[in-house]
Amino acid sequence: MTALQSPALLGGEPITKSADWPGWPPRLSGLNEALAKVVEQDRWGVHSDVVKEFEEQFSAYHDAQYGLAMANGTLALSAILKALGIGPGDEVILPAYTFLTTATAVMDVGAKPVFADISPRTFNLDPSEAEKLVNNRTKAIIPVHVGGNPADMSSFNGIAARHNLHIIEDAAQAHGAGYGGQKVGSLGKASFFSFQSSKNLTAGEGGIVLTNDQELYEQLHPIYNCGRALNGAWHQHISPGMNYRLSAFQAAVLLFQMKHLEEWAQLRESNGLYLEKLLNAIPGISCARREPETERNAYHLFIFTYDEEKFNGLSKAGFIKALQAEGLLATDGYQPLYLLPFMDYSGPPLPATESVCRQGVWLRQSQLLAGRGMMDKIAVAFRRIQKFSRQLAGLAAD
Ligand SMILES: Cc1ncc(COP(=O)(O)O)c(C=O)c1O
Repeated sequence: MTALQSPALLGGEPITKSADWPGWPPRLSGLNEALAKVVEQDRWGVHSDVVKEFEEQFSAYHDAQYGLAMANGTLALSAILKALGIGPGDEVILPAYTFLTTATAVMDVGAKPVFADISPRTFNLDPSEAEKLVNNRTKAIIPVHVGGNPADMSSFNGIAARHNLHIIEDAAQAHGAGYGGQKVGSLGKASFFSFQSSKNLTAGEGGIVLTNDQELYEQLHPIYNCGRALNGAWHQHISPGMNYRLSAFQAAVLLFQMKHLEEWAQLRESNGLYLEKLLNAIPGISCARREPETERNAYHLFIFTYDEEKFNGLSKAGFIKALQAEGLLATDGYQPLYLLPFMDYSGPPLPATESVCRQGVWLRQSQLLAGRGMMDKIAVAFRRIQKFSRQLAGLAAD
C-alpha cells in the first residue's frame, strides 16, 4: 500500500513528479495560428477588433454588460477608483489577506487603505468586521474573492446600500466563479480580473474592468485611453488620462483560451470539491469554506490551514517541504499586508488574518486540471506525511 510507504523526504518513492501535472500556462494547439492572424492585421493595439471581441466575450460570460481590457489587474483597479472619484482624504476598506496591489492601487490614487479582518472559515473579508470601520471618509469596500472563492457579496451589497458606498470586486483570481445565480464580476458597482501568468486565464500580463453601469463605463474611457472620451476623436483629450490599454496579441491569447474556460472551471470545481472531502477528513487540515450562495469556486488557489499540533509538531515549512518532495506544487501564502513597513498601520492586529497567514498553505490551480486519480494521490501524500510526521519533525530539527 502506497499510503504506508515512507515519505519522499525519508527516502521513499515520491507520490508523483511535478512534471506529471498539467503545464501552466497551457500550450494549446492552434494558438500560434491565432497570433499569426493578428500579425496580418493593421491594428495591433488601439481600436483592434480582437480586443473588442475579447471584451465582449469575457464580460458576457461573467454576466456583465461592459468590459474594458487593460494592461494588468493593478491598473484596472486604479482605473475603477479614479473613475469613482476616489482620492486624497478618502478611505477604502479591504482585507490584509490579499495580493499587495489590492492595497497599493488604493494608495496610488492617494486614498487610504483600511484593513478589516477576514473570516477564519472562508479566508475572505468579513462583512461585519468591514462595516465596523465605515465612517464618513469611507468611499468603497473591496471584497477579494481570495483563491477564487466568492466573498459574501449579498452582505457587502447590504452594507453599500446602508452607507451609500461602492463595492468593487477584486476578482483577479476568480475567473468563472459563480454566486447567487450569476458569475462573480457582475455583483458590485465594478470588478476587475487579472491575466498575469499564474491566473486561470492568462496572457502573461493583462487585466479587465467589468461593470453594468453605463455612466461608470463612460467615465473609465479617458482614464485608460489617454484622456479620450468614448467615441471621442484621436486628439480630443477631455482630461489628463493615462494609457492602460491591452495589446491585440494579448487579447488573441485570451480569446483563444476563452474556448476552454468553462470546461476548465467545471473540472477545477469538481476536482476541488472532491479533494476538499478527502483532505478535510485528515485531522489538522481545514479547507476554505464557501458562502451558502456560492455555486462555483474558481480554485485559482486551493487554500487550507495546517495545524502542526496534529502532525507531531512538524512545522508548516517542514510540511510544505515534504509535500514538494512528493511532487506537489505547494507553497506558503500571504503575510498580513499591514505588517509591511510602508503601510504605516496604526490599527489593532487582525486575529483571523494572522492565524490564516500563519497556518495557510496553497496548492496551485493547475493540479486541479489533472485526472481524479491524481486527487487521490494528493490525499495519499498528505496521509503519508501525517503518519511519518514525528520522524519528519525530527528531520527538520536536525
Ligand atoms: C487578489 C489579487 N489582486 C490583484 C492582483 C493584481 O493583478 P495584476 O498582477 O494583473 O496586476 C492580483 C494578481 O496578481 C491578485 O491575485
